[in-house]
Amino acid sequence: MSLDTSRPSAARAYDYFLGGHSNFAADREFADQVKAIAPSVPNVARLNRNFLRRAVRYCLDQGIRQFLDLGSGIPTVGNTHQIAADAHADARVVYVDNEPVAFHHSRGLLEEHPDATIIQADMRDREHVLSHPETRRLLDFDEPVALLVIGVLLYLPDPEPAELIRGYREHLAPGSLLAVSTLTDEPAGTALREEVQRLRAAYAEAGEPVHPRDHADILPWFDGLDLVEPGLVTLPEWRCDDPAEAFDVAAPLGYGAVARVP
Ligand SMILES: C[S@@+](CC[C@H](N)C(=O)[O-])C[C@H]1O[C@@H](n2cnc3c(N)ncnc32)[C@H](O)[C@@H]1O
Repeated sequence: MSLDTSRPSAARAYDYFLGGHSNFAADREFADQVKAIAPSVPNVARLNRNFLRRAVRYCLDQGIRQFLDLGSGIPTVGNTHQIAADAHADARVVYVDNEPVAFHHSRGLLEEHPDATIIQADMRDREHVLSHPETRRLLDFDEPVALLVIGVLLYLPDPEPAELIRGYREHLAPGSLLAVSTLTDEPAGTALREEVQRLRAAYAEAGEPVHPRDHADILPWFDGLDLVEPGLVTLPEWRCDDPAEAFDVAAPLGYGAVARVP
């Protein structure tokens, strides 16, 4: 993927929703249009980011010190290596993103962090990601790894998410953890569902279609893995430390889960 700042990018719009500054006029214009037709979207971004933090903390609490973060995004506050640092854990992190701004900003941010790196790659190109010298330098797949696939599978049509997870899972040692979150409109009421419809139309027109999914669509992604309590639930239902999140208008718009490789 090459950099074209005249066209909006979903990655940079997400950065804008989170209050980041790694975005261009076309991204901001697009994101403002999305906000006008689907005002809950910035909240979904925040809830998702909070789920990422809790999932990483859970992995750290389970003793995992290696992370492969697919579709890691533009670095705003609270990236995986920072969550680990806040927890005083010596974690090794490989970020993967195909978006040029995400790659360059992450690389700049990580210059002084020898234990974290970014690869610019399509995460579907598993062989490339896994055989990349940076992955080999930092991750030991003979030991448990946390595979993070947070807020990115919504960009893939079926059956790609299931295939992607199955493919990476083959390389994960017992005790590894998989964390996933993705867009849904299943538990939403009529008004929120209509927002999601408008969101889909806007992203499709921008050339980055998104795919909300039902619980029954996502559950098979974890076949052969042991779901960690409380299972596959809406994001604020997953080990949330802030009761206010359950009342967030966007609470029904994301599902998340963590599962263990037996
Ligand atoms: C919504 S952001 C999520 C960022 C972060 N994981 C989070 O949850 O906060 C999705 C990111 O996935 C990246 N992405 C989308 N499709 C990808 C692919 N096929 N390979 C690698 N990265 C991809 C986008 O460039 C974007 O930065």
